[in-house]
Amino acid sequence: MEKLVISGGNKIFGNIEISGAKNAAVAILPAAVLASKGVSTIENVPDIDDVKCLVKILESLGCKVTRNESTVIIDSTEVHNVKANIEEVRKMRASYYLLGALLGRFKEASVDLPGGCPIGVRPIDQHIKGFEALGADVEVGYGAVSVKTDKLIGTNIYFDVVSVGATMNVMMAAVLAEGQTTLENPAKEPHVVDLANYLNSMGADIKGAGTDTIRIKGVKELKGCTYSVIPDQIEAGTYMIATAACGGEVTIQNVIPKHLEAISAKLTEMGVEIIEGDDSVTVKSERNLKAVNIKTLPYPGFPTDIQQPMSTLLTMAKGRSMVTESIWESRFKHVDELKKMGAKIDVNGRVAIVEGVEKLTGAEVIATDLRAGAAMVIAGLMAEGETIIAGLEHIDRGYPYIEDKFTKLGATIRRETV
Ligand code: EPU
Repeated sequence: MEKLVISGGNKIFGNIEISGAKNAAVAILPAAVLASKGVSTIENVPDIDDVKCLVKILESLGCKVTRNESTVIIDSTEVHNVKANIEEVRKMRASYYLLGALLGRFKEASVDLPGGCPIGVRPIDQHIKGFEALGADVEVGYGAVSVKTDKLIGTNIYFDVVSVGATMNVMMAAVLAEGQTTLENPAKEPHVVDLANYLNSMGADIKGAGTDTIRIKGVKELKGCTYSVIPDQIEAGTYMIATAACGGEVTIQNVIPKHLEAISAKLTEMGVEIIEGDDSVTVKSERNLKAVNIKTLPYPGFPTDIQQPMSTLLTMAKGRSMVTESIWESRFKHVDELKKMGAKIDVNGRVAIVEGVEKLTGAEVIATDLRAGAAMVIAGLMAEGETIIAGLEHIDRGYPYIEDKFTKLGATIRRETV
């Protein structure tokens, strides 16, 4: 078993390079299955465990996959299997994008029920509603979701809840449907736009991604192309918050500052200085932080995936902060771990009240999910003394080279095999 060992208290300085976006890459790699001709070359893919799992899953379907640093080359012309049922499918959430991609191309798919972070119930009724509206029969049973039809016909689909996953999954099926599909009330996250741009580069006809209505005109076939994944908004936000927490000055490079606006605005409100460049943000912090209120919302609101790192930062802000988690009902599991380090937080349902304290102290803690892991790393960096974090399998699903990146900035952090 591996653990991260952190000696807290160092200020951090320097430059850090952000990797490609996890939640874009984990949709774009399955979408490559839609290409019946040519080869897909996907660049700026992050080196994380979710990507490793997806590569194995794609190979199990008959794709030929080559990885060269951050480039993944996928030849999906010889896909012979529409059943994704190896162990890796159940380890991650994004494996369910193969339902939309395989349904689009082969009009048939069966994918084992996905895993992912234990942050709430995570229903897939909106995905199913979308597939059924396009004409597919959907069956959930024996631990898998199966979809099948003779043909997919474009239609109007109104999502009852704003869902990143349902928007992307249904988009993948609709690109090869007959006629036009309109998605109303879709998610507008940067990764939704990135997937649409990738599909358009393959020959799809999608307009309006990132707005309230997405229009998709079905095409006959898609071809492989070369595409570069956008930078990871959440990884960038995590390093911004870490800089605010530790104090110091860090330039976070390879970002799209527009995607970080909600995070930058909150940090500014707390008294942190943020300087935006064309593709970078510089964060300067004296650790003199003010309490603020946070409410998570779909994009362009404050991202739920940054709530746990942010509520960790608030433990040392002066005054009382209120954090409302409106997307996931169980995304406060990091709070019990923070309490072991001296944080004062009361959770009542979806609301956490954080009373700022003078200091956190090192402790043995667990990363209960991916972003809780990032929260624990930030807590360890800002605390006095040594923090030992277990549960690294969660962190490794989404943060490439986390200890190397923080070490480069001057933090004292190492990985140990226990
Ligand atoms: N929902 C439904 N029905 C559905 C789908 C979703 O009711 O059919 C509800 C969910 O229960 C939730 C809300 O809608 O309350 C939003 O869920 P969404 O479908 O948008 O989430 P997701 O696609 O499962 C992705 C990210 C999550 C991120 C959310 C919200 C991936 C692989 N995962 O999940 O990322 O929190 O969008 O932005 O893209 C993470 O990276 O740590 C992570 C958990």
